[in-house]
Amino acid sequence: MKFSLPLLAAVAEAAVIGRQDVPPPGDDGRYTISADGIKAQFIPYGATLTNLFVKDKHGEDIDVVLGYDDVDYYPEDPGHPVYNAIPGRYANRIGNGKYTLDGKTYLTEKNDGNNTLHSGTNNWSYRVWEVTDFKDDSITFSILDKANSSQGMPGDVKASVTYSVEGSTWNIKMTAEALDHKTPLLLTQHTYFNLDAYRNPNTSKIWDHGLYLPYSQRYLEGDQGALPTGKILTAAPGSINDFASSPNFTVGHARNQDGFEGNCGADGACEGYNGFFLIEDKPADDAVVLRLSSAFSGVTADLRTDQPGVVLYSCNWSDGSADLKSTQGIEGVNEKVIRSSCIAIEAQDFPDGINHPEWERTDAQIWGPGETYTWESSWTFGLL
Ligand SMILES: *[C@@H]1O[C@H](CO)[C@@H](O)[C@H](O)[C@H]1NC(C)=O
Ligand SMILES: *[C@@H]1O[C@H](CO)[C@@H](O)[C@H](O)[C@H]1NC(C)=O
Ligand SMILES: *[C@@H]1O[C@H](CO)[C@@H](O)[C@H](O)[C@H]1NC(C)=O
Ligand SMILES: *[C@@H]1O[C@H](CO)[C@@H](O)[C@H](O)[C@H]1NC(C)=O
Ligand SMILES: *[C@@H]1O[C@H](CO)[C@@H](O)[C@H](O)[C@H]1NC(C)=O
Ligand SMILES: *[C@@H]1O[C@H](CO)[C@@H](O)[C@H](O)[C@H]1NC(C)=O
Repeated sequence: MKFSLPLLAAVAEAAVIGRQDVPPPGDDGRYTISADGIKAQFIPYGATLTNLFVKDKHGEDIDVVLGYDDVDYYPEDPGHPVYNAIPGRYANRIGNGKYTLDGKTYLTEKNDGNNTLHSGTNNWSYRVWEVTDFKDDSITFSILDKANSSQGMPGDVKASVTYSVEGSTWNIKMTAEALDHKTPLLLTQHTYFNLDAYRNPNTSKIWDHGLYLPYSQRYLEGDQGALPTGKILTAAPGSINDFASSPNFTVGHARNQDGFEGNCGADGACEGYNGFFLIEDKPADDAVVLRLSSAFSGVTADLRTDQPGVVLYSCNWSDGSADLKSTQGIEGVNEKVIRSSCIAIEAQDFPDGINHPEWERTDAQIWGPGETYTWESSWTFGLL
């Protein structure tokens, strides 16, 4: 799961010179890459995946991620759910909008209650990335984040993400370099799934999807604003945050238990999940660390990652005002993104690790000139 040097060099070179020979997107405004069992489409805004088609149990290609039909709506949506984009340079929350680096305290923008979310203003999911390479089965986006343009983040950072497809697998590889100053770096791909493409006539809620994280018995306790408190808890078998002790749990296995309504905070108004699960003691670098599945479509999605955990967010905030894409839903039955009808799965390092030296994640989250941050994950799709 490590980068080969030639690939690193190619990515770095493309990022530095800026490819002029990249064609424009297709007529639908998207860049499309495909392999035998998968088709993925992207836009430069946020380095966003807009559509991901995989085979269901009937052999039909279904679109299993959230998004919009109109590519021009991504920058306009005031809700900006970071649909399948790359938030950066420090994803998720920074507690109380501050952190200390080499004795100096930096203030970041409080755009989520008392905290910073996804690096605040000018975060990477709001920017148009440069397409620096494009082939039938892969695409690379690059970005130069100038010092302090994400407020409170020192030094220039150059980053790239390469998406590729092979068989029925979607690969994601990122690199980032701090060019002239030490800075926090924590990246993720913020992918939102509904493996039924909202075509289950009985429900578009996410609760019946299967979810298994065999190496994630421990998780970070969150406060009412979904900020880690610092405590690492162990989920008792069968309890709300247990997805490790049985391969047979659904996302909603605990939805009748006390505490599920407030499990993601907001003083009881956030049902389900918005927290970080540690991945520990996996038997091999390429072990599957998470399986999401749906009995209705038959689709399975297996995550492999080099990251030490994963954020699960079960879309409490979706309030039914956003339309589904025309590739999803059933006319007259499922037409909107309703509450708790999707799940975002974000492989990443410990959120707010820069404020929790006791977790010993600082080395993995503070990067300086001459070092290359790397991140790698893949999703392999199959059938139950
Ligand atoms: C935000 O901080 C203020 C001042 O410390 C505190 O009173 C308030 O409860 C905090 N809000 C949340 C949601 O934690
Ligand atoms: C990200 O930046 C945009 C543009 O500056 C801003 O409108 C938005 O509020 C920021 N997002 C968050 C989550 O703060
Ligand atoms: C960084 O940005 C913030 C907010 O725009 C500003 O207050 C601060 O002075 C900037 N710092 C530097 C070193 O430019
Ligand atoms: C929907 O629910 C009904 C009643 O429980 C059941 O008979 C039917 O098989 C379900 N349909 C699907 C597609 O699961
Ligand atoms: C999961 O379900 C399978 C198939 O029904 C069953 O054989 C297995 O015992 C179950 N595992 C657990 C841990 O419940
Ligand atoms: C969760 O959803 C409920 C109901 O729509 C809403 O009132 C609440 O503000 C949401 N909370 C969060 C943190 O998204």
